[in-house]
This record gives sequence, C-alpha cells and structure tokens, in this order.
Amino acid sequence: MAVDELIGQLKALEAEGLDAVRAGGDAAALEALRIEYLGRKGRLTGILRRLGELSAEERPAVGAEANRVKEALNVLLEEREAGFAGAADQGPRIDLTLPGRRRWEGGVHPVTLVIDEICDIFRDLGFSRVAGPEVETVDYNFSKLNTPLDHPAADMHDTFYLADGVVLRTHTSPAQAHVMENFQPPVRVVVPGMVYRRDPFDASHAPGFAQLEGLAVDEGITFADFKATIGEFVRRFFGADAKTRFRPSFFPFTEPSAEVDVSCRICKGAGCSACKQTGWMEIMGSGMVHPNVFEAVGYDPEKYTGYAFGMGPGRIAMQRYGLPDIRLLYESDMRFLKQFA
Ligand code: DAH
Repeated sequence: MAVDELIGQLKALEAEGLDAVRAGGDAAALEALRIEYLGRKGRLTGILRRLGELSAEERPAVGAEANRVKEALNVLLEEREAGFAGAADQGPRIDLTLPGRRRWEGGVHPVTLVIDEICDIFRDLGFSRVAGPEVETVDYNFSKLNTPLDHPAADMHDTFYLADGVVLRTHTSPAQAHVMENFQPPVRVVVPGMVYRRDPFDASHAPGFAQLEGLAVDEGITFADFKATIGEFVRRFFGADAKTRFRPSFFPFTEPSAEVDVSCRICKGAGCSACKQTGWMEIMGSGMVHPNVFEAVGYDPEKYTGYAFGMGPGRIAMQRYGLPDIRLLYESDMRFLKQFA
C-alpha cells in the first residue's frame, strides 16, 4: 500500500515539476525550481524520506521511480537552461561599433539615362514626352504609316505576330498615328519606348530594344526647321563641336527621307574603328511626314506639313559609353550597371 502511495506521489511531483519548468521564464526561475524540486531539502528528497517506512524488498521499486523522476526533471531543466545561457553569455546583443548596413539604392539604366537626357533636351525645344502601346494592330504598325503589308518590314520574319493582325510594334512610329488621331496641330512630341523584332540576340542585335520617336506637325514646317532642330539637339547632346550630316534615304512614311549622322565622338571625324573609318556615326532615320500618313490620321495634307524622326537610344548609349556588345544592356550584371548608378 505504501509503495503505491509513494510512487503516486512521485508521479504527481514529476507532472507538476515538468509543468513548472516549462513555464520557467528565465535562468533564475529555473534555478529556483531545481532547488525546490531536486535540492537537498527539496520536495523529491521529502518524499524519499519515507523510504524508511518500507520493507527492504519494497524499496528498490520506489528508488527506481525516484531516479526516473529526477532524471526527467533534470533533462528538461538543462534543456531550458541551455536556451537562456546563450543569450546571457553574449553580453549586449547590439554591437554599436559595427558600421551601418548600406541601403540598396536603385540605379538608372544607361539606356534610360540616354532617353531622359534626350527628352529633356527636346522639352526645352518645345516637345512633350508621351507614350504609345507596345501591342499594335498591323493597321497602326504598318498601314497608317503608308507601309503596305507586302512591304518587307511587315514580313513574318521580322515581326512578332501575337494574333492575326496584332503585333508587337516593330518601331515607335505607330505612336505618331495615335498622337495625330488624338491631337490637332500644332503637335510636337517625343515618344520613347520598347520595340520588338525577330532578330537574333548577338553583339549588335536584340529582339527587343528601345526607340525614340519624334514628330512635329504644324502649318508651314519645312525641312529647314528639322535641320535646325536636330542640329541644336546634336550640339546639346553630343557637344558643341559635333557636326550633323543629312543623307538621302527611304522610309515609306516620310518623303523626302534622310538619315542623320553625327561626326564621330571618338575620333572627331578623322576616322577610327568605332566609326569604321568614315568619321561619322548614324543616329537616326527621319524625313518629312508623307501626305498619305496625314490622310490616314485625318490631317489635311494641303494644310499641314511636319517632320518625324526615330533614333535608337541603345545604340547611342553604346557609342557614348564605348560599349562593345549590346548584350551588356540586357544582362542585369550589377558590376556593369553600378557604374551608372
Ligand atoms: N521607324 C523607323 C525604324 O524603325 C525609324 C524612323 C525613320 C522613324 C524615319 C521616323 C522616320 O519617324 O521619319 O527604322
């Protein structure tokens, strides 16, 4: 009878002790519990004092149970103490001598830098910055720009078709049509944005790249206005000594059309490998807006004239920063991008 009673008391002590240890809030509380339960004058010892009431045969069972309870309490006490010990030994957990963590700052991509700078210059010259959609119908991308669908530019080989009659714009020129359909002259806009072509990805081509479109329409605008405006832009962007040259060219949406060259910024026109010994670098296609384009957007071609141009900010960034490979602009390599941040 006394054996069962003592073993019952030991089990109750164990349950109560384990609960208390689990609730112990810090190292001092745990030490107090160790003394209360397992100390020399503790509660376990208190129960074991009654071993004397038992016969020699009865004692081992109670003794074994007492050892088991002691062990269980000890294991949990040590486990919980270890949890607090780490914290206590480390001293102050904030090291005020550490240098502050550097904040991540976003940088501006070199192509964006070029776009912003070009738009700033044109803003000073009276142009607004607007955007156009990247997904276009063939109507806007080609037809309204006097480009018949059997024109090589509309070919499946060059154009990403998303659906029948729907494409990723192959140039920013369709934005001209959107602007003219929504605003009456006088119109002066620049339109930077991404364009897409089925080009291979190599050192000088990418299937998606930036373009920047310009358009000015009013009564009495002539090619002389275009030459003066672009000459001013070139001097502001490339430097006061930069010369501009206009070469006859062809685009379906302009007549006459021209390509604009700038004297090579590296050799100043003398001829070098960057300009392929020509002394010039091509920066844009351009021309006087074709009367068919005006008709397609509802402008009276007898009343209005205008000029348009399209340039490649990526190519200009490559020239400006001396980049040998266009892929640098796409790889998001922090070692490269950080230089522009
Ligand atoms: N859209 C032409 C291209 O992607 C560039 C261009 C040429 C734009 C002449 C124009 C322009 O506005 O007048 O190659």
